Amino acid sequence: MNAHADLCTPIGELARADATLLPIFERFGLDYCCRGRDTLAEACLRAGVDLAQVLGAIAEEPRPEHVPPHDSMTVLCDQIEATHHAFARQCFDRLDHLIPKIAEVHGPSSPGLTELSLVYADLREEMLDHMVREERVLFPWLRRLEAPHRLESGPPWSVRRPIDCMIHDHDRVAAAFARIRALTSPERLPVNACLSITAAVSTLRELERDTHLHIHKENNILFPAGVAAEKAKAAIRTRTPAQGATP
Ligand SMILES: [Fe+2]
Ligand SMILES: [Fe+2]
Repeated sequence: MNAHADLCTPIGELARADATLLPIFERFGLDYCCRGRDTLAEACLRAGVDLAQVLGAIAEEPRPEHVPPHDSMTVLCDQIEATHHAFARQCFDRLDHLIPKIAEVHGPSSPGLTELSLVYADLREEMLDHMVREERVLFPWLRRLEAPHRLESGPPWSVRRPIDCMIHDHDRVAAAFARIRALTSPERLPVNACLSITAAVSTLRELERDTHLHIHKENNILFPAGVAAEKAKAAIRTRTPAQGATP
């Protein structure tokens, strides 16, 4: 690792270049997805973590000799739908059953669990709606942008518009997970929490971890590739009439 270069590099770029860093960022609670533009030092400051400790952990981690090339946007969209979107829906199926039950039984004595059920309901609705908009609008648009002989790739406005909306949604989702984490901290949960609470909290943690990776792939890899592909296509469109013109 080039420590000097990496300290000035946005953490999202570090994550994009080397996936082995992700477990370290997760372990230290560093936001590499929604705030991927922060440097490593800024991310440490925000998380209240010692930068030297993070650098030490990174130095200890064996580095891959070869960085595999990134997948195409089409492959990434397919993978995100098949893994992260499917996983989120599975988690919601489990949580839909658990969270209203624990709020009803334990809410009167632990009001944090009543708030948890409200925050969860908003998060669920937001994520389900967001994923449908990606699957029906943005991802097909990105796949078309990548299609070699298709000059017309989408509506007559920039792909940045839906991308900005998605990034805004991601920020809201991250804020909801932060609230959920606070509401489910050990000191907020009832002593001797029942199995339903333990199962709900563990599913929420799994979903949060997976959502970090999910948002990282979209914010730091897929969306910049979409913006670049749109620019490249616009450049081809501008050149095409001149090339076809008769002298
Ligand atoms: Fe997504
Ligand atoms: Fe998304």
